[in-house]
Amino acid sequence: MMREPIFREYCLLCAKQYPPDAFRTRCDACGGALDVDYDLARVRIRDNREAPIARYHELLPVQDASNLVHVGAGNTPCVHARELGRKLGMSALYLKDETKNPTGTVKDRPAEVVLSYLKERDVWHITSSATGNSSTAFARATILSPPFEHSIFIGERWLSRLTFEAHERVHVWVLEGRETTTLEAIACSRKWERDNGVPAEGGFFNIGRREGLKLAFLEAVDQVRRPFDWYMQGVSTGMGAYAAFKGALQYQALGLVDRIPKMALVQEATCAPQVQAWREGCDGIRPHHILERPDGIADALLKGNHTETYPYIYRMMTRTGGQFVSVSEEEIRSAQRDLKEAEGISACFSASTTIAALKKLRATEQIGASECVLVMLTGSDRDPRRHVRNYTRLVRTAAGWRRADTPVEQEAV
Ligand SMILES: Cc1ncc(COP(=O)(O)O)c(C=O)c1O
Ligand SMILES: [Zn+2]
Repeated sequence: MMREPIFREYCLLCAKQYPPDAFRTRCDACGGALDVDYDLARVRIRDNREAPIARYHELLPVQDASNLVHVGAGNTPCVHARELGRKLGMSALYLKDETKNPTGTVKDRPAEVVLSYLKERDVWHITSSATGNSSTAFARATILSPPFEHSIFIGERWLSRLTFEAHERVHVWVLEGRETTTLEAIACSRKWERDNGVPAEGGFFNIGRREGLKLAFLEAVDQVRRPFDWYMQGVSTGMGAYAAFKGALQYQALGLVDRIPKMALVQEATCAPQVQAWREGCDGIRPHHILERPDGIADALLKGNHTETYPYIYRMMTRTGGQFVSVSEEEIRSAQRDLKEAEGISACFSASTTIAALKKLRATEQIGASECVLVMLTGSDRDPRRHVRNYTRLVRTAAGWRRADTPVEQEAV
């Protein structure tokens, strides 16, 4: 018999409710993003000897503890950065060091929660297509959790970011051409999903993704034991920041914190559609905000079209207050060095954008000297020489993408 639900799934736009019986990434009535609320009376936060996914179980969209997939994510340090804080004239700067996760990024957390969420819904194969960190985390978690399977569609430029050993349950499709964009990889994936009846993992629209990312924030609050005035993150879609916002609301309702942090969300200047839309006061993405070929050094943040997700982030920002900040390549490189020198943490460019932005917000006193700031250091670099070696190559043809190892007359993928 199904236990009494401890959570409620609903649409953020029209409030339609859904039973926890299937894998959905959108509201079937209006296309809105789904979210989840919990029966807070039943929440019991366990101590840190437990894996985070078990520690925060009642704040996750998984009914039965036996469905929780734990493959080593979380329990990362939250460092009081005294030296970097001194340089920036700050007394309460905290760095959540997500580089210490198994694949070196915060994405190991959502990989666990997504697989747990899918297991309970009897879905065992999904696809992903992005810039490599999530796919690598999904691949590792999938390999360690039979019988899950995972299919990845990725442009050649990003192949070096897929760092895992080839495995029979992880299928990699590489779209040839250094210029191939993530949007092309996604389009190719969509066709393959339709033809093969395998759902896309959904990115921002996957509840498990956001709820998994939330755990990095909750863990930081429990480690530091004081409320944060600011939350800072380098953003692609902003799902990590949205997740922190949700976590803060839940901890506030539980009486564990007394405030919701202001958000400082950071993008690289060469790919900053959300910063631009925010500065123009837009509540949605307009055509001139969309970048066809986003470029820059902050690889994980190179998403050019935020049409689908920005409205949710805009609404969050109007509730929390805060800033969108863009930073240059030079500022990111220098921030990465400062972080390494002062605190010994090797963060990737995407994560280092936060430190560059923090310098700016301190210089203009938008962040005060004694404010309590949480910087989410979302990841580190992995060794590109260890990229996956076994994959299917796809070549571009007039009729679409075709397997490089099949005759021309064969149907496109
Ligand atoms: C290292 C790193 N930082 C930041 C982000 C941005 O994440 P979000 O989609 O939550 O904005 C990503 C996403 O892939 C990432 O891998
Ligand atoms: Zn709806």
